[in-house]
Amino acid sequence: MSISTASKDENIVWHQHAINKEFRANLKKQRPSVLWFTGLSGSGKSTVAGALENRLAEMGYHTYLLDGDNVRHGLCSDLGFSESDRRENIRRIGELAKLMADAGLIVLSAFISPHRSERQMVRDLLPQDEFLEVFVNTPLDVCEQRDPKGLYKKARAGEIKNFTGIDSAYEEPLKPEIDLPAGDKSVEQLVELCVEELKAKGIIS
Ligand code: ADX
Repeated sequence: MSISTASKDENIVWHQHAINKEFRANLKKQRPSVLWFTGLSGSGKSTVAGALENRLAEMGYHTYLLDGDNVRHGLCSDLGFSESDRRENIRRIGELAKLMADAGLIVLSAFISPHRSERQMVRDLLPQDEFLEVFVNTPLDVCEQRDPKGLYKKARAGEIKNFTGIDSAYEEPLKPEIDLPAGDKSVEQLVELCVEELKAKGIIS
């Protein structure tokens, strides 16, 4: 066994620091949580998550928005869109979101995260009431019509492979905590729906 493998398995012990999650959350006067936006490309994940973050910030909450396209320029710039790369993408974001929740933040994440198993993997990283799956439920034909980045057109033309909804599957959430009818409501209405749900669940007051 190499030294690095040995240390990973046996010689690394989790250090419990004095300043813990509860302390940090109390300082911020809030309940940490991860609001996990999932949906097709062009469904409005980033837009709604960004608008909700603005609203939460106005209300005095400490937040951080993790966005698929941005994270893929840095932390996940080595990853593509194969099944295994998407899984690794979500694994890294899940661990990052967990650390940010540990820092006391309300984390908003906007990733297609097309597979139920990967979203479950992130859910399992967090305490039960800290992970909220937000399904940005915009039908494929509406996303394709919007096509804000022209990617559906390219995918239909065969210029992009493994494009979600075209030649790569999107598995809809079965029981999302929040289900947003994002095909036929305004961003403001969707943010209002989120705020109401977050209040009902005691994440914000
Ligand atoms: S995920 O599937 O791994 O969760 P992620 O949310 O990080 O995807 O990135 C999705 C973004 O990458 C899309 O909004 C789109 O702009 C871009 N993209 C590039 N290629 C693809 C592809 N093959 N499938 C889906 N999105 C793609």
